[in-house]
Amino acid sequence: MPDRSPDSLAAMPTPGRRIVAVANQKGGVGKTTTTINLATALAAIGRRVLVVDLDPQGNASTGLGIDRNSRAHSSYELLIGAAGLRESARPTAIPKLSIVPSTVDLSGAELELVDAEHRCFRLRDALYADHAIDDYDYVLIDCPPSLNLITLNALTAADAVLVPLQCEFFALEGLSLLLKTVERVRANFNPELEILGVVLTMFDRRNRLSDQVAADVRGVLGDKVYDTVIPRNVRISEAPSHGKPALLYDLKCAGSQAYVRLASEVLRRERKRAA
Ligand SMILES: Nc1ncnc2c1ncn2[C@@H]1O[C@H](COP(=O)(O)OP(=O)(O)OP(=O)(O)O)[C@@H](O)[C@H]1O
Ligand SMILES: [Mg+2]
Repeated sequence: MPDRSPDSLAAMPTPGRRIVAVANQKGGVGKTTTTINLATALAAIGRRVLVVDLDPQGNASTGLGIDRNSRAHSSYELLIGAAGLRESARPTAIPKLSIVPSTVDLSGAELELVDAEHRCFRLRDALYADHAIDDYDYVLIDCPPSLNLITLNALTAADAVLVPLQCEFFALEGLSLLLKTVERVRANFNPELEILGVVLTMFDRRNRLSDQVAADVRGVLGDKVYDTVIPRNVRISEAPSHGKPALLYDLKCAGSQAYVRLASEVLRRERKRAA
């Protein structure tokens, strides 16, 4: 498949706003990497994008170059209602890409919210207050590796879930739990929530298991699985330590090109859906 530059995507029409939770309770499957690079690709073609870092680890914030000492307002304040979206969001070095960073304080939010009213709606309420969400075309929420109250807030605020799935033996096992949680959220809090798609990550061409897992996942989930597969690529794993998305660190590497193709596929499917 020929490489596509973000420029070639710009011709696509703008669909309606999307709030996407990037979720999988399994750790280390590529949620943050997918959030950062998809967000960058969408911003590069002119979409106004917001990343909400909802993981106390703060990897999305670090990976987008936000220094730990300069996270005065964060997703913690947003969730507990101490700050609004316009105060919490800050620009990144990438034009049109903003972020609500996270700090370790967020790990306490779960306990603090346990008795709060509408505790699953905190993020949704914060995003929509004062129409602040209207500043963005895409909101990507980087979830923690857990199905806790923070993730429930993300799923309640989102209109779609993007699931990164690592090409490894137990890939499908955890997925059923995530899908059950999505059902629960749909039934109780957010009937409009849909699965945007499943993206296979860290695919290793030299490993036959990767092929097998990819075939199994496509067998079970059919066309919910994106055609685009993200390869295992060392440049992708190097990028966060430079505080840059892989797309800026090395646009030409196979991993970055895969994320550009993923952005293109996401938009193509959205256009189809809208038609
Ligand atoms: N395609 C890839 N090729 C090589 N390394 C990758 C790739 N995708 C992600 N990684 C690396 O794998 C590790 C886990 O990725 P990432 O942090 O995106 O996963 P995560 O699901 O967000 O993890 P967590 O559950 O801890 O939040 C990171 O070190 C990341 O740099
Ligand atoms: Mg992460």
